[in-house]
Amino acid sequence: PSTVRRAQHGALEVGGVDVHAIARDHGTPAYVFDEEDFRRRCRTFKAAFGGAEVYYAGKAFIATAVVKILVEEGLSLDVCTGGELAVAIRGGMPPQRIGLHGNNKSAEELTAAVEHGVGRIIVDSFDEIERLTRIARETGKRPSVMVRVTVGVEAHTHEFIATAHEDQKFGFSLSGGAAAEAVQRILADGVLDLRGLHSHIGSQIFDAAGFEVAARRLLKLHAEIAERHGRELPELDLGGGFGIAYTTQDEPADPQELAGDLLRIVKQECAALHLSVPHLSVEPGRAIVGPSMFTLYEVGTVKDVDGIRTYVSVDGGMSDNIRTALYDAAYSATVAGRASSEPPILARVVGKHCESGDIVVKDEFLPADVKAGDLLAVPGTGAYCRSMASNYNHVPRPPVVAVADGASRVIVRRETVDDLLRLDVG
Ligand code: LLP
Repeated sequence: PSTVRRAQHGALEVGGVDVHAIARDHGTPAYVFDEEDFRRRCRTFKAAFGGAEVYYAGKAFIATAVVKILVEEGLSLDVCTGGELAVAIRGGMPPQRIGLHGNNKSAEELTAAVEHGVGRIIVDSFDEIERLTRIARETGKRPSVMVRVTVGVEAHTHEFIATAHEDQKFGFSLSGGAAAEAVQRILADGVLDLRGLHSHIGSQIFDAAGFEVAARRLLKLHAEIAERHGRELPELDLGGGFGIAYTTQDEPADPQELAGDLLRIVKQECAALHLSVPHLSVEPGRAIVGPSMFTLYEVGTVKDVDGIRTYVSVDGGMSDNIRTALYDAAYSATVAGRASSEPPILARVVGKHCESGDIVVKDEFLPADVKAGDLLAVPGTGAYCRSMASNYNHVPRPPVVAVADGASRVIVRRETVDDLLRLDVG
Protein backbone atom coordinates (compact mmCIF):
# COMPACT_ATOMS: atom_id res chain seq x y z
CA PRO A 1 0.00 0.00 0.00
CA SER A 2 3.00 2.34 0.21
CA THR A 3 2.87 5.36 -2.09
CA VAL A 4 6.67 5.39 -2.48
CA ARG A 5 7.68 5.33 -6.17
CA ARG A 6 10.87 5.88 -8.06
CA ALA A 7 10.16 8.61 -10.58
CA GLN A 8 11.43 8.60 -14.14
CA HIS A 9 14.44 10.77 -13.29
CA GLY A 10 15.43 8.34 -10.51
CA ALA A 11 14.41 10.16 -7.34
CA LEU A 12 11.96 8.68 -4.87
CA GLU A 13 8.61 10.28 -4.42
CA VAL A 14 6.10 9.58 -1.71
CA GLY A 15 2.53 10.80 -1.47
CA GLY A 16 3.25 12.44 -4.82
CA VAL A 17 6.07 14.55 -3.34
CA ASP A 18 9.68 14.32 -4.54
CA VAL A 19 12.26 13.67 -1.80
CA HIS A 20 14.26 16.69 -2.98
CA ALA A 21 11.24 18.88 -2.27
CA ILE A 22 10.89 17.35 1.18
CA ALA A 23 14.58 17.94 1.93
CA ARG A 24 14.42 21.48 0.57
CA ASP A 25 11.26 22.46 2.42
CA HIS A 26 11.84 20.65 5.71
CA GLY A 27 15.54 19.83 5.91
CA THR A 28 17.17 16.54 6.83
CA PRO A 29 17.07 14.33 8.71
CA ALA A 30 13.29 14.05 8.64
CA TYR A 31 10.81 11.29 9.31
CA VAL A 32 8.55 11.16 6.28
CA PHE A 33 5.06 9.91 7.07
CA ASP A 34 3.03 8.41 4.22
CA GLU A 35 -0.41 9.37 5.44
CA GLU A 36 -2.41 7.40 2.89
CA ASP A 37 -0.43 4.26 3.63
CA PHE A 38 -1.06 4.70 7.35
CA ARG A 39 -4.78 5.19 6.79
CA ARG A 40 -4.96 2.12 4.57
CA ARG A 41 -3.29 0.02 7.20
CA CYS A 42 -5.69 1.30 9.87
CA ARG A 43 -8.51 0.10 7.63
CA THR A 44 -6.84 -3.24 6.89
CA PHE A 45 -6.54 -3.99 10.59
CA LYS A 46 -10.08 -2.91 11.34
CA ALA A 47 -11.42 -5.06 8.52
CA ALA A 48 -9.21 -8.05 9.37
CA PHE A 49 -10.34 -8.13 12.98
CA GLY A 50 -13.98 -7.81 12.07
CA GLY A 51 -16.03 -6.66 15.02
CA ALA A 52 -13.00 -6.61 17.32
CA GLU A 53 -11.84 -3.24 18.55
CA VAL A 54 -8.45 -2.09 17.30
CA TYR A 55 -6.51 -0.04 19.83
CA TYR A 56 -3.57 1.54 18.03
CA ALA A 57 -0.57 1.34 20.41
CA GLY A 58 0.54 4.95 20.75
CA LYS A 59 3.95 4.00 22.11
CA ALA A 60 5.00 3.09 18.56
CA PHE A 61 4.45 6.68 17.44
CA ILE A 62 2.00 9.25 18.67
CA ALA A 63 1.37 12.88 17.75
CA THR A 64 -1.73 15.05 17.79
CA ALA A 65 -2.16 14.75 14.01
CA VAL A 66 -1.91 10.97 14.21
CA VAL A 67 -4.62 10.86 16.87
CA LYS A 68 -6.87 12.91 14.58
CA ILE A 69 -6.36 10.37 11.80
CA LEU A 70 -7.14 7.51 14.18
CA VAL A 71 -10.36 9.24 15.19
CA GLU A 72 -11.31 9.63 11.52
CA GLU A 73 -10.50 6.00 10.79
CA GLY A 74 -12.51 4.75 13.76
CA LEU A 75 -9.64 3.21 15.71
CA SER A 76 -9.24 3.30 19.47
CA LEU A 77 -6.01 4.18 21.25
CA ASP A 78 -3.76 2.47 23.76
CA VAL A 79 -1.64 4.88 25.83
CA CYS A 80 0.80 3.98 28.57
CA THR A 81 1.69 7.25 30.31
CA GLY A 82 0.12 10.54 31.27
CA GLY A 83 2.08 12.10 28.41
CA GLU A 84 0.54 9.83 25.79
CA LEU A 85 -2.85 10.36 27.41
CA ALA A 86 -2.43 14.13 27.05
CA VAL A 87 -1.72 13.75 23.31
CA ALA A 88 -4.73 11.46 22.93
CA ILE A 89 -7.01 14.00 24.58
CA ARG A 90 -5.54 16.89 22.61
CA GLY A 91 -6.01 14.98 19.36
CA GLY A 92 -9.70 14.56 20.17
CA MET A 93 -9.81 10.82 20.83
CA PRO A 94 -13.06 10.19 22.70
CA PRO A 95 -11.94 9.13 26.22
CA GLN A 96 -14.23 6.09 26.00
CA ARG A 97 -11.97 4.79 23.20
CA ILE A 98 -8.74 5.16 25.19
CA GLY A 99 -7.09 2.36 27.19
CA LEU A 100 -4.39 3.16 29.75
CA HIS A 101 -1.53 0.71 30.28
CA GLY A 102 1.57 0.71 32.46
CA ASN A 103 3.16 -1.33 35.24
CA ASN A 104 3.73 1.72 37.44
CA LYS A 105 1.06 4.29 36.77
CA SER A 106 1.30 7.17 39.18
CA ALA A 107 -1.63 8.41 41.25
CA GLU A 108 -1.63 11.50 39.00
CA GLU A 109 -1.86 9.40 35.85
CA LEU A 110 -4.63 7.26 37.27
CA THR A 111 -6.53 10.32 38.49
CA ALA A 112 -6.22 11.99 35.08
CA ALA A 113 -7.51 8.82 33.41
CA VAL A 114 -10.45 8.53 35.80
CA GLU A 115 -11.34 12.19 35.47
CA HIS A 116 -11.22 12.07 31.68
CA GLY A 117 -13.35 8.93 31.84
CA VAL A 118 -11.04 6.71 29.79
CA GLY A 119 -12.74 3.57 28.54
CA ARG A 120 -10.48 1.18 30.37
CA ILE A 121 -7.49 1.03 32.61
CA ILE A 122 -5.44 -2.15 32.31
CA VAL A 123 -4.45 -2.90 35.90
CA ASP A 124 -1.06 -4.43 36.38
CA SER A 125 -0.40 -4.92 40.13
CA PHE A 126 -2.11 -5.25 43.49
CA ASP A 127 -0.65 -1.87 44.47
CA GLU A 128 -2.39 -0.34 41.48
CA ILE A 129 -5.71 -1.99 42.28
CA GLU A 130 -5.54 -0.41 45.75
CA ARG A 131 -4.45 2.96 44.39
CA LEU A 132 -7.18 3.01 41.74
CA THR A 133 -9.83 1.82 44.18
CA ARG A 134 -8.95 4.73 46.50
CA ILE A 135 -9.13 7.20 43.60
CA ALA A 136 -12.48 5.76 42.49
CA ARG A 137 -13.87 6.16 46.02
CA GLU A 138 -12.55 9.72 46.29
CA THR A 139 -13.95 10.81 42.93
CA GLY A 140 -17.17 8.81 43.16
CA LYS A 141 -16.44 7.27 39.73
CA ARG A 142 -16.46 3.62 38.68
CA PRO A 143 -13.56 3.14 36.28
CA SER A 144 -13.62 0.18 33.92
CA VAL A 145 -10.60 -2.09 34.22
CA MET A 146 -9.01 -5.06 32.52
CA VAL A 147 -6.64 -7.39 34.34
CA ARG A 148 -3.34 -7.86 32.56
CA VAL A 149 -2.43 -11.51 32.71
CA THR A 150 1.06 -12.88 32.17
CA VAL A 151 0.22 -16.07 30.37
CA GLY A 152 3.72 -17.54 30.23
CA VAL A 153 4.18 -17.03 26.51
CA GLU A 154 7.05 -14.98 25.20
CA ALA A 155 7.15 -14.30 21.52
CA HIS A 156 9.55 -12.35 19.36
CA THR A 157 9.75 -12.51 15.61
CA HIS A 158 9.09 -16.09 14.55
CA GLU A 159 10.03 -17.78 17.81
CA PHE A 160 7.96 -18.22 20.86
CA ILE A 161 8.43 -20.00 24.12
CA ALA A 162 5.62 -21.10 26.39
CA THR A 163 6.93 -21.35 29.93
CA ALA A 164 5.41 -22.33 33.25
CA HIS A 165 6.51 -19.28 35.17
CA GLU A 166 6.48 -15.67 34.20
CA ASP A 167 9.59 -13.81 35.27
CA GLN A 168 8.85 -10.25 34.13
CA LYS A 169 7.55 -6.97 35.49
CA PHE A 170 4.24 -6.86 33.62
CA GLY A 171 0.92 -8.27 34.62
CA PHE A 172 -0.41 -10.82 37.07
CA SER A 173 1.01 -14.29 36.83
CA LEU A 174 -1.39 -16.92 35.57
CA SER A 175 0.40 -20.01 36.83
CA GLY A 176 1.10 -18.51 40.26
CA GLY A 177 -2.57 -17.65 40.75
CA ALA A 178 -2.06 -13.89 41.03
CA ALA A 179 -4.35 -13.22 38.06
CA ALA A 180 -7.26 -15.13 39.59
CA GLU A 181 -6.57 -13.37 42.90
CA ALA A 182 -6.68 -9.93 41.22
CA VAL A 183 -10.03 -10.78 39.61
CA GLN A 184 -11.33 -12.04 42.95
CA ARG A 185 -10.35 -8.84 44.78
CA ILE A 186 -11.80 -6.51 42.16
CA LEU A 187 -15.10 -8.38 42.00
CA ALA A 188 -15.36 -8.73 45.79
CA ASP A 189 -14.75 -5.02 46.29
CA GLY A 190 -17.09 -3.93 43.52
CA VAL A 191 -15.64 -0.41 43.32
CA LEU A 192 -14.03 -1.00 39.93
CA ASP A 193 -15.93 -2.28 36.90
CA LEU A 194 -14.07 -5.38 35.72
CA ARG A 195 -14.47 -5.70 31.95
CA GLY A 196 -12.16 -8.59 31.19
CA LEU A 197 -8.71 -10.10 30.80
CA HIS A 198 -5.78 -8.82 28.79
CA SER A 199 -2.54 -10.33 27.57
CA HIS A 200 0.34 -9.03 25.49
CA ILE A 201 3.02 -11.56 24.66
CA GLY A 202 5.74 -9.64 22.85
CA SER A 203 6.52 -7.66 19.77
CA GLN A 204 7.55 -8.18 16.14
CA ILE A 205 5.86 -11.61 16.10
CA PHE A 206 5.64 -13.37 12.74
CA ASP A 207 3.11 -16.15 13.19
CA ALA A 208 -0.05 -16.97 15.09
CA ALA A 209 1.28 -19.83 17.26
CA GLY A 210 2.23 -17.73 20.31
CA PHE A 211 -1.05 -15.80 20.17
CA GLU A 212 -2.98 -19.04 19.99
CA VAL A 213 -1.36 -20.47 23.11
CA ALA A 214 -1.94 -17.16 24.88
CA ALA A 215 -5.59 -17.02 23.80
CA ARG A 216 -6.21 -20.58 24.98
CA ARG A 217 -4.64 -19.92 28.37
CA LEU A 218 -6.51 -16.66 28.76
CA LEU A 219 -9.82 -18.27 27.86
CA LYS A 220 -9.23 -21.05 30.35
CA LEU A 221 -8.96 -18.45 33.09
CA HIS A 222 -11.95 -16.62 31.60
CA ALA A 223 -13.96 -19.86 31.92
CA GLU A 224 -12.81 -20.44 35.50
CA ILE A 225 -13.90 -16.93 36.43
CA ALA A 226 -17.32 -17.53 34.85
CA GLU A 227 -17.63 -20.72 36.83
CA ARG A 228 -16.47 -19.27 40.16
CA HIS A 229 -18.24 -15.93 39.99
CA GLY A 230 -21.31 -16.95 38.06
CA ARG A 231 -20.84 -14.44 35.24
CA GLU A 232 -18.83 -14.14 32.08
CA LEU A 233 -16.58 -11.11 31.74
CA PRO A 234 -17.65 -9.23 28.61
CA GLU A 235 -14.26 -8.42 27.04
CA LEU A 236 -10.95 -10.02 26.09
CA ASP A 237 -7.83 -8.31 24.76
CA LEU A 238 -5.08 -10.20 22.95
CA GLY A 239 -2.55 -7.35 22.87
CA GLY A 240 -0.34 -6.24 20.04
CA GLY A 241 2.93 -7.47 18.61
CA PHE A 242 2.18 -8.24 14.95
CA GLY A 243 5.46 -8.19 13.04
CA ILE A 244 6.51 -6.30 9.92
CA ALA A 245 9.20 -6.81 7.28
CA TYR A 246 12.22 -4.59 7.85
CA THR A 247 14.30 -6.28 5.17
CA THR A 248 13.55 -8.69 2.34
CA GLN A 249 14.54 -11.54 4.66
CA ASP A 250 11.57 -10.92 6.97
CA GLU A 251 8.34 -12.75 6.18
CA PRO A 252 5.65 -11.75 8.64
CA ALA A 253 2.20 -13.30 8.54
CA ASP A 254 -0.39 -11.38 6.61
CA PRO A 255 -2.53 -9.47 9.15
CA GLN A 256 -5.68 -10.76 7.48
CA GLU A 257 -4.62 -14.40 7.90
CA LEU A 258 -3.29 -13.90 11.41
CA ALA A 259 -6.50 -12.20 12.47
CA GLY A 260 -8.56 -14.97 10.86
CA ASP A 261 -6.58 -17.67 12.71
CA LEU A 262 -6.93 -15.85 16.01
CA LEU A 263 -10.65 -15.23 15.69
CA ARG A 264 -11.21 -18.86 14.73
CA ILE A 265 -9.26 -20.15 17.75
CA VAL A 266 -11.17 -17.89 20.13
CA LYS A 267 -14.52 -19.01 18.71
CA GLN A 268 -13.55 -22.69 18.85
CA GLU A 269 -12.30 -22.42 22.43
CA CYS A 270 -15.39 -20.55 23.55
CA ALA A 271 -17.63 -23.18 21.97
CA ALA A 272 -15.65 -25.95 23.65
CA LEU A 273 -15.90 -24.19 27.01
CA HIS A 274 -19.62 -23.39 26.52
CA LEU A 275 -18.97 -19.66 26.72
CA SER A 276 -20.26 -16.84 24.61
CA VAL A 277 -17.52 -15.11 22.60
CA PRO A 278 -16.39 -12.02 24.52
CA HIS A 279 -15.98 -8.66 22.81
CA LEU A 280 -12.43 -8.88 21.45
CA SER A 281 -9.78 -6.23 21.12
CA VAL A 282 -6.17 -6.03 19.93
CA GLU A 283 -3.42 -3.43 20.25
CA PRO A 284 -1.20 -3.26 17.18
CA GLY A 285 1.34 -0.45 17.04
CA ARG A 286 4.30 -1.39 14.85
CA ALA A 287 2.25 -3.23 12.24
CA ILE A 288 0.16 -0.12 11.58
CA VAL A 289 2.71 2.68 11.66
CA GLY A 290 6.05 0.93 11.07
CA PRO A 291 5.96 0.67 7.28
CA SER A 292 4.37 4.07 6.77
CA MET A 293 7.47 6.11 7.56
CA PHE A 294 10.99 6.37 6.27
CA THR A 295 13.81 8.53 7.52
CA LEU A 296 15.33 10.87 4.98
CA TYR A 297 18.98 11.68 5.64
CA GLU A 298 21.70 13.52 3.80
CA VAL A 299 25.06 11.85 3.39
CA GLY A 300 27.89 13.93 4.87
CA THR A 301 31.03 11.81 4.50
CA VAL A 302 31.96 8.59 2.74
CA LYS A 303 34.99 6.69 3.99
CA ASP A 304 36.48 3.52 2.62
CA VAL A 305 38.15 1.55 5.42
CA ASP A 306 40.96 -0.65 4.19
CA GLY A 307 38.88 -1.98 1.34
CA ILE A 308 36.69 -3.90 3.82
CA ARG A 309 33.73 -1.65 4.01
CA THR A 310 32.55 1.82 3.19
CA TYR A 311 31.24 3.97 6.03
CA VAL A 312 28.50 6.29 4.86
CA SER A 313 27.81 8.92 7.52
CA VAL A 314 24.41 10.61 7.62
CA ASP A 315 23.25 13.73 9.44
CA GLY A 316 21.34 11.82 12.16
CA GLY A 317 21.99 8.46 13.75
CA MET A 318 21.30 6.68 17.01
CA SER A 319 19.44 9.71 18.35
CA ASP A 320 16.70 9.26 15.71
CA ASN A 321 16.94 5.47 15.45
CA ILE A 322 18.24 3.67 18.53
CA ARG A 323 16.81 0.32 17.45
CA THR A 324 19.89 -0.86 15.54
CA ALA A 325 22.18 -0.23 18.51
CA LEU A 326 19.69 -1.39 21.12
CA TYR A 327 18.17 -4.50 19.52
CA ASP A 328 20.56 -5.23 16.70
CA ALA A 329 17.57 -4.44 14.48
CA ALA A 330 18.03 -4.78 10.73
CA TYR A 331 17.15 -1.94 8.36
CA SER A 332 17.83 -1.25 4.72
CA ALA A 333 18.87 1.94 2.98
CA THR A 334 18.63 3.30 -0.50
CA VAL A 335 20.00 6.33 -2.30
CA ALA A 336 16.80 8.31 -2.58
CA GLY A 337 17.67 11.32 -4.68
CA ARG A 338 18.81 9.70 -7.92
CA ALA A 339 19.32 6.45 -9.75
CA SER A 340 22.79 5.00 -10.23
CA SER A 341 24.10 2.32 -12.53
CA GLU A 342 27.33 1.94 -10.55
CA PRO A 343 28.02 -1.54 -9.10
CA PRO A 344 27.04 -2.04 -5.45
CA ILE A 345 29.57 -1.81 -2.63
CA LEU A 346 29.20 -3.09 0.92
CA ALA A 347 28.36 -0.09 3.05
CA ARG A 348 27.52 0.64 6.65
CA VAL A 349 25.26 3.59 7.29
CA VAL A 350 26.37 5.37 10.44
CA GLY A 351 25.34 8.53 12.26
CA LYS A 352 27.12 11.58 13.57
CA HIS A 353 27.25 10.63 17.24
CA CYS A 354 30.34 10.19 19.32
CA GLU A 355 30.44 6.44 19.60
CA SER A 356 31.24 3.62 17.24
CA GLY A 357 27.98 1.78 18.00
CA ASP A 358 26.12 4.61 16.29
CA ILE A 359 24.95 2.49 13.38
CA VAL A 360 21.73 3.00 11.45
CA VAL A 361 22.08 0.18 8.91
CA LYS A 362 24.71 -2.43 9.60
CA ASP A 363 25.13 -3.89 6.13
CA GLU A 364 23.74 -2.56 2.91
CA PHE A 365 24.83 -2.56 -0.68
CA LEU A 366 24.88 0.99 -1.99
CA PRO A 367 26.01 2.18 -5.42
CA ALA A 368 29.77 2.71 -5.58
CA ASP A 369 29.29 6.38 -6.42
CA VAL A 370 27.40 7.17 -3.18
CA LYS A 371 28.72 10.55 -2.10
CA ALA A 372 28.35 13.54 0.19
CA GLY A 373 25.15 15.42 -0.58
CA ASP A 374 23.21 12.30 -1.58
CA LEU A 375 19.81 11.83 0.00
CA LEU A 376 19.45 8.46 1.70
CA ALA A 377 16.16 6.84 2.75
CA VAL A 378 15.87 4.24 5.51
CA PRO A 379 12.42 2.64 5.28
CA GLY A 380 10.30 1.14 8.03
CA THR A 381 11.14 3.68 10.72
CA GLY A 382 7.57 4.54 11.70
CA ALA A 383 7.51 2.47 14.87
CA TYR A 384 9.66 3.12 17.91
CA CYS A 385 12.11 5.46 16.17
CA ARG A 386 10.67 8.93 16.73
CA SER A 387 9.05 7.71 19.95
CA MET A 388 12.41 6.48 21.29
CA ALA A 389 14.46 9.34 19.86
CA SER A 390 16.84 11.17 22.17
CA ASN A 391 18.92 14.33 22.27
CA TYR A 392 22.18 12.47 22.65
CA ASN A 393 25.06 14.85 21.97
CA HIS A 394 22.50 17.68 22.05
CA VAL A 395 21.26 16.76 18.63
CA PRO A 396 17.74 18.17 18.13
CA ARG A 397 15.15 15.57 17.14
CA PRO A 398 14.01 15.54 13.49
CA PRO A 399 10.54 16.65 12.42
CA VAL A 400 7.79 14.37 11.20
CA VAL A 401 6.60 15.45 7.79
CA ALA A 402 3.32 14.00 6.54
CA VAL A 403 2.91 13.66 2.78
CA ALA A 404 -0.31 13.02 0.88
CA ASP A 405 -1.84 14.04 -2.43
CA GLY A 406 1.24 15.85 -3.65
CA ALA A 407 1.65 18.04 -0.55
CA SER A 408 3.70 17.91 2.61
CA ARG A 409 2.95 19.28 6.06
CA VAL A 410 4.88 19.20 9.32
CA ILE A 411 3.03 17.24 12.01
CA VAL A 412 5.85 17.34 14.56
CA ARG A 413 8.18 20.26 14.14
CA ARG A 414 11.96 19.97 14.18
CA GLU A 415 13.47 20.55 17.59
CA THR A 416 16.01 23.36 17.78
CA VAL A 417 19.10 23.87 19.88
CA ASP A 418 17.15 26.69 21.54
CA ASP A 419 14.48 24.18 22.58
CA LEU A 420 17.22 22.26 24.35
CA LEU A 421 18.91 25.30 25.86
CA ARG A 422 15.57 26.42 27.27
CA LEU A 423 15.72 23.53 29.74
CA ASP A 424 19.07 24.58 31.19
CA VAL A 425 18.90 26.63 34.36
CA GLY A 426 21.78 28.97 35.21
N1 LLP B 1 0.13 -3.51 23.91
C1 LLP B 1 0.99 -3.56 24.93
C2 LLP B 1 0.49 -3.81 26.27
C3 LLP B 1 2.37 -3.37 24.70
O1 LLP B 1 3.20 -3.42 25.72
C4 LLP B 1 2.83 -3.12 23.38
C5 LLP B 1 4.25 -2.92 23.11
C6 LLP B 1 1.88 -3.06 22.35
C7 LLP B 1 0.53 -3.27 22.65
C8 LLP B 1 2.24 -2.78 20.92
O2 LLP B 1 3.13 -3.70 20.39
P1 LLP B 1 3.47 -3.67 18.80
O3 LLP B 1 2.21 -4.04 18.07
O4 LLP B 1 3.91 -2.29 18.47
O5 LLP B 1 4.55 -4.67 18.66
N2 LLP B 1 10.66 -0.61 21.61
C9 LLP B 1 10.53 -1.94 21.07
C10 LLP B 1 9.10 -2.45 21.14
C11 LLP B 1 8.52 -2.43 22.53
C12 LLP B 1 7.10 -2.87 22.56
C13 LLP B 1 6.51 -2.62 23.89
N3 LLP B 1 5.12 -2.94 24.01
C14 LLP B 1 11.04 -1.94 19.64
O6 LLP B 1 11.46 -0.90 19.16
O7 LLP B 1 11.05 -2.98 18.99
